[in-house]
Amino acid sequence: MSLNLFLCLSWLLSAQAALETNTTSTNTTATATNTTTSGFMVSKPGCPLKCGNLTVPYPFGIGVGSGCSIGSWFEINCSTASNPPKPLLGSLEVFDISDTQVRIKNTVASNCYNQSGALIHQNTAWTKLGDSPYTFSDTANKFTVIGCDDFALILGSEGRNFTSGCVSLCSRSVDVLDGYCTGIGCCQTSIPKGLKMYFASLSSLGNHSKVWGFDPCSYAFLGAEDSFKFNGVSDFLDPNFRNRTMDSVPVVLDWVVGQSCSEDQKLNTLACQQNSYCADLDSGFGGYLCSCNKGYEGNPYLSPGCQDINECINCDSNNCDVNAICINTPGSFNCTCAHGYYGDGRRDGHGCIKQVSQFPVIKLSLGLSFGFLSLLIAVTLLYFSIKRRQHIKLREKFFQQNGGLLMKQQISSNEGGLESSKIFTAEELKKATNNYAEDRILGRGGYGVVYKGIVPNQRIVAIKKSRIMDETQIEQFINEVVILTQVNHRNVVKLLGCCLETEVPLLVYEYVSNGTLFHHIHKSALSWLSWDHRLRIAAETAGSLAYLHSAASKPIIHRDVKSANILLDDNYTAKISDFGASRLVPLDQTQVTTLVQGTLGYLDPEYFHTSQLTEKSDVYSFGVVLAELMTGKKPLCPERPQEERNLATYFILSMKENRLFQILEPRVVREGTLDQLQTVAELVKRCLKLISEERPTMKEVAMQLEGLRKFTKHPWVHQQGQEESVSCQEESVSLMSETSDLYTVPLSPYNTGGIVSGQYSLDSQTIFPANSPR
Ligand SMILES: *[C@@H]1O[C@H](CO)[C@@H](O)[C@H](O)[C@H]1NC(C)=O
Ligand SMILES: *[C@@H]1O[C@H](CO)[C@@H](O)[C@H](O)[C@H]1NC(C)=O
Ligand SMILES: *[C@@H]1O[C@H](CO)[C@@H](O)[C@H](O)[C@H]1NC(C)=O
Ligand SMILES: *[C@@H]1O[C@H](CO)[C@@H](O)[C@H](O)[C@H]1NC(C)=O
Ligand SMILES: *[C@@H]1O[C@H](CO)[C@@H](O)[C@H](O)[C@H]1NC(C)=O
Ligand SMILES: *[C@@H]1O[C@H](CO)[C@@H](O)[C@H](O)[C@H]1NC(C)=O
Ligand SMILES: *[C@@H]1O[C@H](CO)[C@@H](O)[C@H](O)[C@H]1NC(C)=O
Ligand SMILES: *[C@@H]1O[C@H](CO)[C@@H](O)[C@H](O)[C@H]1NC(C)=O
Ligand SMILES: *[C@@H]1O[C@H](CO)[C@@H](O)[C@H](O)[C@H]1NC(C)=O
Ligand SMILES: *[C@@H]1O[C@H](CO)[C@@H](O)[C@H](O)[C@H]1NC(C)=O
Repeated sequence: MSLNLFLCLSWLLSAQAALETNTTSTNTTATATNTTTSGFMVSKPGCPLKCGNLTVPYPFGIGVGSGCSIGSWFEINCSTASNPPKPLLGSLEVFDISDTQVRIKNTVASNCYNQSGALIHQNTAWTKLGDSPYTFSDTANKFTVIGCDDFALILGSEGRNFTSGCVSLCSRSVDVLDGYCTGIGCCQTSIPKGLKMYFASLSSLGNHSKVWGFDPCSYAFLGAEDSFKFNGVSDFLDPNFRNRTMDSVPVVLDWVVGQSCSEDQKLNTLACQQNSYCADLDSGFGGYLCSCNKGYEGNPYLSPGCQDINECINCDSNNCDVNAICINTPGSFNCTCAHGYYGDGRRDGHGCIKQVSQFPVIKLSLGLSFGFLSLLIAVTLLYFSIKRRQHIKLREKFFQQNGGLLMKQQISSNEGGLESSKIFTAEELKKATNNYAEDRILGRGGYGVVYKGIVPNQRIVAIKKSRIMDETQIEQFINEVVILTQVNHRNVVKLLGCCLETEVPLLVYEYVSNGTLFHHIHKSALSWLSWDHRLRIAAETAGSLAYLHSAASKPIIHRDVKSANILLDDNYTAKISDFGASRLVPLDQTQVTTLVQGTLGYLDPEYFHTSQLTEKSDVYSFGVVLAELMTGKKPLCPERPQEERNLATYFILSMKENRLFQILEPRVVREGTLDQLQTVAELVKRCLKLISEERPTMKEVAMQLEGLRKFTKHPWVHQQGQEESVSCQEESVSLMSETSDLYTVPLSPYNTGGIVSGQYSLDSQTIFPANSPR
């Protein structure tokens, strides 16, 4: 190490000897002292540098009218009247001068009170800089107020008119925190840029009578933030606080020279000498500062300007290698490897390498690194191929776990039944749903999350991501999937395919655009469904349920029929969805015992008690949907009175008490014919029978509803359906009478005007019109 250092030094010294033969021309008084700011701290040649302890660099100069400074604003009156001598800038006592700032003695405003609250002592503080090239530094200074019952204003004028203030309060001495100027005993605020004069005035909010015990005086001053530290209550009680602060906390002034770089250059009065640059300051009054260029040092205001730094003298200021020769260049240096060495010569680069032994070493290391590199590549390739195989294996495992093989079997034994459905890959669906993005979620249910996706042929699909399944469910799940792909009914949501490679199976359905029936009945105020739509939706739903119960090769019980599971497309065509809970019923077995599943409010009470699942459970649930369609009420509503909470029982009760029309939705009453309403109500009543055997089959229900739809297609019924603008908010008696007017036309033998009188009973088995199955 020391040998290296020695070598370095000797190289440098020899290099310097070669280049530095004539650099002793400027040897000012400053060079004799050690300088900290790289040669700035020099005075004009022949001028004193020091006044007491203060170093006065050019453009400042000691002596008024001595010509030692750049101008009269920069003359320091070194008053020898006092000992040590007091340097004055005008009348301001100077503490320190740097290349951008001057620190001067502070003035501190103070107010002192006696115990009864009388102001017994007052000092105000102000400092005026006039049209000098000085401004109060906005970054280094803070306006500070000390006291417990005080506020102070700082008023600025000359250059910048501003008023600011600070309030400092406290009621107990224990609240005062040492070191913190946050408004409790001490408050600080900033000043604006370009301030040239300030005046500080103190006032008390009370008169210190409440805090006099620990705070008889208050103070305000502008001063260097880095020089002041608040000492809490001990500052309040220090009788010397004002004198101490004036001596220790200076005010910082920014100084500039000239007018502006461009102006002074034009007038050829630019203060910046050679190898320096000029920088305008945006204080608002013009002026600029000079700085040495990179690689140069010295005082940029003093002729002949900044001097080149000989980086080669100091090992720390160059980065040449031990075996390099440092050559100083103007503003920089150059490292050149010595004879017998090659390289860029820099310690932080390649350095200098001896030429003799270089070839074998390079060959060897080259060979070694090539060998190592190829080994590395081989290992990496191997690793990735193993990873890939593991990944594929995992997906195959999921596929099998999710019944992929079983499904394939089913497909092949099903002779083309599954043509239209597809097994999607995990990649395809990830891409389709934009990696299962939150904004693609269409809905969440007990069974999983449904995403909107776009599959490669630009088709929009709904992708259901199931909850994690246990293995025992898988066979049934697969059966359902296979059956559903076979189900081809226009009112059943089409299952397009699935993906079994993932841990949980993903199902891909056709996308139905218009939301759920539940939403249309209960949430959407704008798209109120007309009676015709309602009837059609009911008929379509009943038809598809009937189809599921009978037409499929094995009956399918949906188990969760509800308005939220009936989707509507743009034409309000109903599509039953969510077969997540549905079960297959083997043909030889009419009932299966299984875990009770379904939605409260729609749940068949018999099934709930016996756990015996039949198609009639779907009939019950459908009855609730019908009631929902007629009344516009939710099947279960805890906010309603006790007897009205459950729509099914409420509906039956209302029928029994002959006041059904009071709970029907006004629009339904207005648009539906009496016959239709009676028939549907009766149908609801039958569907909701507690004993499942008394309920009609889904097929019967479907046929009746279909018959009613045919009936509505009479033109004169349509005319009434056109009236849409009547407010439908109130289910009131007035609406009832209005409604009954609509039905004065004798539509059927049952329309006897009984509604108006309230006598009409729907609780009669005889009112069914003859079924008119297409
Ligand atoms: C040194 O520089 C001065 C002026 O810059 C010149 O007069 C003198 O001849 C130079 N001396 C040598 C040895 O180069
Ligand atoms: C320059 O200053 C050094 C002291 O730092 C002194 O030894 C030398 O004689 C001075 N040279 C001139 C020309 O003043
Ligand atoms: C600078 O000079 C002062 C005395 O004037 C001395 O105490 C100090 O150690 C010197 N600093 C350096 C870095 O030489
Ligand atoms: C001048 O500096 C000396 C030592 O650095 C110090 O003891 C003295 O107090 C200083 N004088 C003034 C007036 O700052
Ligand atoms: C310099 O300062 C002293 C003391 O304050 C004062 O008496 C004197 O007049 C000043 N000189 C000039 C030229 O202002
Ligand atoms: C406070 O000062 C006022 C006016 O100077 C005087 O009247 C009063 O007696 C003083 N109170 C105390 C407690 O010194
Ligand atoms: C100081 O304030 C107190 C109450 O706030 C009042 O009683 C007292 O007269 C005031 N003293 C003076 C000198 O105003
Ligand atoms: C500040 O106010 C004075 C008078 O109040 C006005 O003459 C001067 O122009 C103002 N200065 C600025 C910078 O607005
Ligand atoms: C503060 O300084 C002034 C003058 O410099 C002096 O008259 C006064 O006694 C000093 N105050 C204290 C408390 O030392
Ligand atoms: C350093 O020296 C090399 C060769 O002597 C030269 O090509 C290069 O320009 C020099 N760099 C500087 C900054 O002078």
